[in-house]
Amino acid sequence: MSSPVLSLASIEKVFPNGVRGLSPVDLTVEKGDFVTLIGPSGCGKSTLLKLIANLHTPSGGKMNWWGGNFGDVGRKGRRMAFVFQDATLMPWATIAKNVRLPLDLEKVDRSTADKRALAALERVGLGHVTEHYPAQLSGGMKMRVSIARALVTEPDLLLMDEPFGALDEFTRNRLDEEMARLCYEDGLTTLFVTHALHEAAFLSSRVMVMAARPGRIHAEYEIDQSILRNEEFRLSDQFAGISRELAILLEDASRESMIQQEMRA
Ligand SMILES: Nc1ncnc2c1ncn2[C@@H]1O[C@H](COP(=O)(O)OP(=O)(O)O)[C@@H](O)[C@H]1O
Ligand SMILES: [Mg+2]
Repeated sequence: MSSPVLSLASIEKVFPNGVRGLSPVDLTVEKGDFVTLIGPSGCGKSTLLKLIANLHTPSGGKMNWWGGNFGDVGRKGRRMAFVFQDATLMPWATIAKNVRLPLDLEKVDRSTADKRALAALERVGLGHVTEHYPAQLSGGMKMRVSIARALVTEPDLLLMDEPFGALDEFTRNRLDEEMARLCYEDGLTTLFVTHALHEAAFLSSRVMVMAARPGRIHAEYEIDQSILRNEEFRLSDQFAGISRELAILLEDASRESMIQQEMRA
């Protein structure tokens, strides 16, 4: 059997100022999973994602990427890509050049890089704006460019931290549908952070409900991977049922966080 994409065993994070960001967390992500972290603000979602991206070092526990250390990720030809809430595009560069950036950094030759950038932009429905500049695009389009820049490297693991949090609901729903298509049809493995319950219900194959103070995983909720994530699903009783069950778990998690805080006060 092949190793999971990610495995975290008792991962903890205490910041230098003594703040306990995460108390022991166990998490396994398999190829093709769409795992969502959801929970109240300050419960450690971003901390967990940064630990996985190796932007933070854990204070305890063991973490493996494809069965090895972080240092072996590149050597094994594995790639991770990170998408943040802010699209962080270079304003002075064309959309094509923005998307090509990771390939330019890897010294991929110009014509191959251009072809791959165009293909990535076409996957997010933006094949027609390659020569535009970021300021000419809407917020939703900029986010699509940011996703294309992540896809251009063909990541084996995509990490997304509240990518659609700043967008209006209609744009967010369209982007969620595109994400579902990319992830379920193209077989991407994704770890996604949101505090929008309906987004978690729509996209995920597994939802990790987190609680705060200290950040931890409160409950785990599986969603049938074979469900087609489309407009019909969004309007279905099944979706309403999943959303309701997630709402109850989230309510539990936030109540527990509040009790812990009162006990400390
Ligand atoms: N660099 C840091 N130094 C000290 N405390 C931090 C740091 N980063 C995050 N924290 C704290 O850790 C907790 C979890 O933060 P974070 O992961 O950003 O939460 P979330 O993304 O779920 O809103 C919060 O209490 C936050 O204030
Ligand atoms: Mg965060």
